[in-house]
Amino acid sequence: MSPRNFFIGGNWKMNGSVAQVKSLVEGLNKINVPAQTEVVVAPPALYIDRVRANLKKEIGVAAQNSYVKASGAYTGEISPEQLKDLGIDWVILGHSERREYFGESDEFVGEKTAHALKAGVSVIACIGEKLEEREANVTADVVTRQLKGVADKINDWTNVVVAYEPVWAIGTGKVATPEQAEEVHVTLRNWLSTNVSKEVADSVRIIYGGSVNAKNAAELATKPNIDGFLVGGASLKPDDFNTIVQARL
Ligand code: 13P
Repeated sequence: MSPRNFFIGGNWKMNGSVAQVKSLVEGLNKINVPAQTEVVVAPPALYIDRVRANLKKEIGVAAQNSYVKASGAYTGEISPEQLKDLGIDWVILGHSERREYFGESDEFVGEKTAHALKAGVSVIACIGEKLEEREANVTADVVTRQLKGVADKINDWTNVVVAYEPVWAIGTGKVATPEQAEEVHVTLRNWLSTNVSKEVADSVRIIYGGSVNAKNAAELATKPNIDGFLVGGASLKPDDFNTIVQARL
């Protein structure tokens, strides 16, 4: 089991309505957040304000993206400074869906991470290989290259959580085995130890995402380098999400 505080993120992606958000928040407010566990949910930007206003304070709120400027003529974008203004302390950056559909590069994800941290917003930085990359045995190259994109732009990792999300496991029901996930998490920690510092490698949370559900979370949570989860589909079901939050107990 991981010696670091457990971190559970719920990424709602582009899902929800006023009515569904209300019932999700009601469900989340019933969750008992265990000691040494951090829980953060990421609603679509439109609903962030109402979620923060109605969700209990033991649960954090994240945006799903933010930009590299504080304000200005950047139609459609949201700044971390604006998130801060609404009491939002977290942002998910570099999700594979943003890399794939919106062309976000490793460098841009690094810049966004640096800007969010500077504005006082903590970052869930996502990385992960595609199926063809895993099959070509370049998983370690891909995930360390993506991690380097972040490492090149920041010095302080205190407010960063790394989310390893293999693209082939996202939304497919095909979860990585605990051994597969642990192997990549160890690779990432070793890379951090060599290229950043041993202290950062030992302290940074590396969480797993990709078809995590109420049934498979407990076994994944037994691995020493899996410090929690980034949950998509199952985060839209409060009972299942609660089971995942309690997975390490
Ligand atoms: P699923 O849990 O739906 O596979 O999504 C994972 C994910 O992308 C979380 O960011």
